[in-house]
Order: sequence, then C-alpha cells, then structure tokens
Amino acid sequence: MSENKKAALIGCGMIADTHLTALQNAGADVIGVYDRNPGAAAAFAGARGLKVYDSLEDLLADETALVSVCTPSGTHGELAEAIMEKGKYAIVEKPMALTVPECRRIMETEQRTGRFCAPISQLRFSRVYREVKAALDEGQFGRMIVGLLSMKYYRAPSYYAGSWRGTVKMDGGGALMNQGIHGIDMMCGLLGYPVSVSGKTATLLHDIEVEDTAVASLVFPDGTLGVIDGSTAITHAKARRLELCGAKASVTIEEDAIRSAEGITLSCEEGSGYNSYSDPTAISTLLHENQFRNILAAAADEEALYYTSRDAMRTVAVITAVYESSKTGTAAVPLL
Ligand SMILES: NC(=O)c1ccc[n+]([C@@H]2O[C@H](COP(=O)([O-])OP(=O)(O)OC[C@H]3O[C@@H](n4cnc5c(N)ncnc54)[C@H](O)[C@@H]3O)[C@@H](O)[C@H]2O)c1
Repeated sequence: MSENKKAALIGCGMIADTHLTALQNAGADVIGVYDRNPGAAAAFAGARGLKVYDSLEDLLADETALVSVCTPSGTHGELAEAIMEKGKYAIVEKPMALTVPECRRIMETEQRTGRFCAPISQLRFSRVYREVKAALDEGQFGRMIVGLLSMKYYRAPSYYAGSWRGTVKMDGGGALMNQGIHGIDMMCGLLGYPVSVSGKTATLLHDIEVEDTAVASLVFPDGTLGVIDGSTAITHAKARRLELCGAKASVTIEEDAIRSAEGITLSCEEGSGYNSYSDPTAISTLLHENQFRNILAAAADEEALYYTSRDAMRTVAVITAVYESSKTGTAAVPLL
C-alpha cells in the first residue's frame, strides 16, 4: 500500500503539461522534473514552481512513489525499468516500448520489483469506450461481423523536421506506431487482439524513415474481420472513425463520441472535443486524468490497474505484425 502520492516527470516537451495537469487533478503531488535538455526543464519547471533535477539519478533518488515518462518513444523501455528498479511505479506514454521483446522485459521487471508500469492509453478511459465495451460484453451487438478503423491524419513537415519523430530508432514506426496506436488499441480493447494480420506500409509524402501511410486487414479471435487505414499524409484530415458492425447492432465512433448507432441506444454523443487528427497538440487532459485516478488508486492497492503492460504489449504486437507482414508479403501472427 502506497500512501505516498509524490510524483516526478521525465521529459518536458509537448505532452508534459497534459501529464502535470492531469496528475495534479487526479490527486498526485508533482514535485519535480528532469529533461536531458536543461533549458527545457528550467523553462517548464520555472513557470510552474517545480524542482528541476540535475540528472536522472537525482530524480530516481528522491522520495517520489510515481514517475511519469514523457520522453521520445525509443527511451520508454529503459526508463520504465530504471524507475521500477528503484521501487517506484512507472507511468509511460504510448507506445510503452517499440518492440514486443522490450515490452516483455518491462513485464519481467514488474514481476521482479513488485512495482507496475502503467502505459498510457487514454481512450480506454473515455465514456464512449466504456459504454460500447459494456454493450459488447452484454451481447447487445450480437455476433460481431466487421470492425473498420480509419485514421486519416495530417502532420505538417515541421512536426517531423529535426525531431525524433519519424525515426526508426526513437519512433519505431509512424502512422501506426505513433498516431494510429490510439485507435488500434481502442479497437483491440473492444474486439480482442487479432490472431492474424496482413498489411502494407508506405512512405508517400513525408521525408521520414518510417511509414506515413498503412493499411491492414485483421482476423479477430472469434473470426470477426477488421480493416485499418492510418496515415499522417492526408492534407484534408478527418476525424478518427471506428465502425463496429454486429448481427444485431452497429455503431460509429468518431474521435471519442458516438456519431451514429443502429439497433442499439447509446448515450455518449459528446466527446472531449479534442481532435488531434490535424493538430498534435489538441489532447484532452480529462482522459489522462481519468487514467491517472486509476493508476493512483492501483498504487494504493485500492483498485486493480485497468490498463496494464500486457494490454500495451499486445497492441505493440499487433502494430509490429503489420510491419512484418508488409515486409514479408504474407500474413503475420502477432506475438500476443
Ligand atoms: N497520449 C497522447 O495522446 C500523446 C500525445 C503526444 C505525445 N505522446 C507521447 O509522449 C512522448 C513524448 O512526446 P512529445 O511530443 O512530448 O515529445 P517532445 O519531443 O515534445 O518532448 C520530449 C522531451 O523529452 C526530452 N528527452 C529526450 N530524451 C530524454 C531522455 N533520455 N531523458 C530525459 N529527457 C529526454 C527532450 O529533451 C524533450 O524535451 C512520446 O512517446 C509520444 O508518443 C502521447
């Protein structure tokens, strides 16, 4: 049982303020930050009255119970392990790590240290996800037939220029591993993790090492079929759309709100109102806050962790299976 609600942040870039605000709103006491760029840490901390740690070691030596990782994706695995090895709980932005073996190492470290790594997947903490999941679990959709996920995003060249974004080493992938992971994780939470994946990726517009566009077909465990498209190259971007069609009912979710429902009554027509398909900074604090409430309760042994490292590992497995299939030209089995 941890009564200690003291927290620290690693990485003071774009997503850091969402973490700070959401952690504070959820009841954590954020005391300091570390960034390998001292200027970024000083600018972030100064305006918010936080302590700046001079090194990762200093941060890890402090009396915090939780550390939130807001650094480039390729650093997540190593940082999560270092945090848990110091007896603290790790909160790690998506993707939890870039490969399945790295995700498994995080899970082994959880076992060894008795601490957890809580990967971020804020859509699983949205009203729309909870409502549709409950209806699916109650059988209100009947036998599921297809799930169709469309993510036609746009990112400007400046988003990638001179950044870790779009690199193999630090982003691990593009339209799917960075942006599309949100929709894919939501789809897998609702329909299960696919047992077979066939995909094709391409870099069609941006000057980046990873894919800016991908398509895939999926087979879910009960035979339900799925289709995904994901891109960051669609200049006229559109809201993320997930259509779930069952024998008795269908629903279309746009971003985190229900756009239409047939054969079923669902109430969640209002989402958070943030649309990051065209603006990477348009992120709702509320959904992170919902997730942080659960993480803090889990650290205090008051609730089970709702979204775990195993969930995040399986989503990374689905995405990396699309990459593998694209390379080999044959269907791939995600390493679930
Ligand atoms: N959940 C979401 O909706 C969401 C949205 C945006 C970003 N993200 C994720 O958040 C993470 C960070 O993204 P961002 O856009 O804030 O990046 P960013 O580039 O804006 O900020 C990253 C910061 O981390 C610092 N940094 C880099 N390596 C470090 C290290 N080893 N130790 C300490 N500091 C280090 C950099 O100096 C920089 O200040 C990524 O993994 C991204 O996928 C999630």
